[in-house]
Amino acid sequence: MCDNPDGPGVADGGGTIVAVRLDGAVVVITGAGSGVGRSTAQECARRGARVVVFDRDGDRAAATAATIGDAAVAVTGDVTSTADLEAARDAALTRFGPVDVVMNNVAVLDVGRVEDIPLEAWQRAIEINLLSIVRSNLVFLPDLLARGSGHVVNTASTAGLLPYGQDRLPYTTTKHAVVGLTEALFLQLRPQGVGVSLFCPAGMRTNIVEQMTFHGERTTPKGPAFAIVEPEFAAGLVCDAIETDRFLVLTDDSVPAEMRALADDPDAYLRRSLDGTGADR
Ligand SMILES: NC(=O)c1ccc[n+]([C@@H]2O[C@H](COP(=O)([O-])OP(=O)(O)OC[C@H]3O[C@@H](n4cnc5c(N)ncnc54)[C@H](O)[C@@H]3O)[C@@H](O)[C@H]2O)c1
Repeated sequence: MCDNPDGPGVADGGGTIVAVRLDGAVVVITGAGSGVGRSTAQECARRGARVVVFDRDGDRAAATAATIGDAAVAVTGDVTSTADLEAARDAALTRFGPVDVVMNNVAVLDVGRVEDIPLEAWQRAIEINLLSIVRSNLVFLPDLLARGSGHVVNTASTAGLLPYGQDRLPYTTTKHAVVGLTEALFLQLRPQGVGVSLFCPAGMRTNIVEQMTFHGERTTPKGPAFAIVEPEFAAGLVCDAIETDRFLVLTDDSVPAEMRALADDPDAYLRRSLDGTGADR
């Protein structure tokens, strides 16, 4: 059970339980065998959380859990399997107690021209990038809602906020869907005491290239060039967002200006993007 006798929630000014203290919380992170999932698992543990490290690569999940020690358990599973996500929930319950925080963090990228990306690649991207979150919601949210506390982090991308990923259409499309889903979840869950964060990193130094499948001729994305950050830095931002009940998590400060420029004049923004630039800055 949770060591924290008061539960992980922190009351806000209105008395609603919204923010989660990671000290004593039980956290499940998908794709935690590598990259930002791994760094977030480690940062959560550093802040006193117990962590379920979920990854389809069992060796990597075990390796991440080993860096944390007794405060982590590795679960080998695929985000496209409801049974595997239930196994993560049950492992948390058995080892640590009910789940307080879920980070849905897995995605694949299909790169190529629209005519070269087969339907099957789209279906796989929708399964892994989008429906995995729907599955996770069905597995984890009933308990969070019953307890009226907790936090969900969905990893999207700046490619879900801005139109620059034209060479990776299934990724761009599903990440935009994750943005919409997560905004709607915020509106639905927060009044019931469950916080929601939308994590939209730009570039991070991870193993993401392993999740890429190239179709046909190589193409290059057009748009703004964002800073590439270390996953440890991004993990700190995610953990801060959980503990302060912050919705949008960005890794590059220039993204809001790009979003404003897009909203101000989408036509002009897209035309500038054809030239390889985003906002006038
Ligand atoms: N790295 C970047 O520049 C960047 C930028 C924007 C968004 N993101 C997003 O960050 C998230 C994490 O990516 P990362 O960069 O840390 O990548 P990564 O490749 O380093 O880590 C991804 C992990 O997910 C696991 N995984 C893949 N498919 C899985 C499945 N079906 N079920 C369970 N586990 C699975 C892999 O084994 C791997 O350990 C993704 O959603 C990605 O879209 C990354």
